Amino acid sequence: MSSQETVKYEEMSSFFNERAVGYEAHMRDTVNSFETYYNLISCSIEETDKEVEILDLGCGTGLEIEGIFKKAPNARITCIDMSEQMLEILLEKYKSKKNQINIIKDSYLTHSFGVKSYDYVISVMTMHHFIYDEKKKLYEKIRSAVKDGGRYIEGDYVVSQENEEKWLKEYYKAYEKFGLEAGKLYHIDIPFSIETQKKLFNEAGFAKFELVFKEGEHTIYFVE
Ligand SMILES: C[S@@+](CC[C@H](N)C(=O)[O-])C[C@H]1O[C@@H](n2cnc3c(N)ncnc32)[C@H](O)[C@@H]1O
Repeated sequence: MSSQETVKYEEMSSFFNERAVGYEAHMRDTVNSFETYYNLISCSIEETDKEVEILDLGCGTGLEIEGIFKKAPNARITCIDMSEQMLEILLEKYKSKKNQINIIKDSYLTHSFGVKSYDYVISVMTMHHFIYDEKKKLYEKIRSAVKDGGRYIEGDYVVSQENEEKWLKEYYKAYEKFGLEAGKLYHIDIPFSIETQKKLFNEAGFAKFELVFKEGEHTIYFVE
């Protein structure tokens, strides 16, 4: 994440459209243990030849998808993202699997996921842009979308409780200082602490939380 002081606030889809081409190189430079991290995203997915249903929220160029197909080669993956350019790269990269990939260009905040539709819902590096209440509503929607016995796996930046407050203050300051429009989605980082994440999952109705990986701010956990 970059310092909020130097950030020019851009709308979410334009931000990622403009950076789609160099996105993977940027992530290789900034995510600790990049290969390990993206492989571990799928470590709690059962190895299977079945056509398991997976929903990937904010899939971007699909960095996490390679690991998913290693565990579940016949998986059917619904990939939602707002950025057309990120999705184009994903489609090119996984063209041999195109019959197993369903692309949706939309916001996962407003898109309907259905009820008990997915064995796994996954999101990686995309949930640190939303305030508490927005995230809670989204987690409730995810919980309804997961089949009985399924799980939600999230990889994201996680910070200390002290830093969580600092980022949140910057977020509200940005709206005032730069006259950002309410209701529009901007690329602004507001990572939460593990404690806040656990509270959110609990309030959204998930009973079990398991931490899978943590190196610096880069974290992976799943809930059921
Ligand atoms: C940092 S990228 C992560 C991409 C991929 N999951 C990865 O780990 O490489 C964040 C992605 O989330 C998408 N995104 C952010 N907010 C979104 C929303 N509300 N609906 C759909 N996509 C969103 C962005 O367009 C971007 O492609």
